Amino acid sequence: MTTHDITLTVDGTDEELTVESRTLLVHALRDRLDYTAPNVGCDSGTCGACTVHLDGDAVKSCTVLAVQADGSDVTTAAGLADGDLHPVQTALHEEHGLQCGYCTPGIAMTATDLLETNPDPDRDEIRAALKGNVCRCTGYQNVVDAIERVADETRDADSAVGEPGDSAPPAGGDGS
Ligand code: FES
Ligand code: FES
Repeated sequence: MTTHDITLTVDGTDEELTVESRTLLVHALRDRLDYTAPNVGCDSGTCGACTVHLDGDAVKSCTVLAVQADGSDVTTAAGLADGDLHPVQTALHEEHGLQCGYCTPGIAMTATDLLETNPDPDRDEIRAALKGNVCRCTGYQNVVDAIERVADETRDADSAVGEPGDSAPPAGGDGS
């Protein structure tokens, strides 16, 4: 059995562990390091419940070997909440976008990745982004409502900042 010493930064914490060549990232996170936000629904890349951000991109952590993630930055749905829930998590809760919640961590990670790359998606784009996330409970309508709400709130906040009479953005700002 070949093993590998790897390092990961998970939700801001540096971790060192030894994994077998075959160890999947989701199992390293859940079973070895006790980060249980990513769920295992299928272990075969279909359901999306295991989705995390790997160096900023949403990936299904059952499709990545832990050794492939050596040296990477991993964010789980627990890490999205920084004291308070992330706006996507709040919206999923308040728009009734979850029932059993098993898919919710993965959906939150997919949604936040979508909104980072496309801050103002339409409903078709939201549905397309969610294609890899299976939910057996909600019918998706309220999930899409929640993500659309975050996009709307972000757009409204941005346009309020840009209304006539507002001061110009600070020099060097990225406008995001
Ligand atoms: S457990 Fe990874 S996609 Fe289902
Ligand atoms: S809320 Fe139950 S699987 Fe999505």
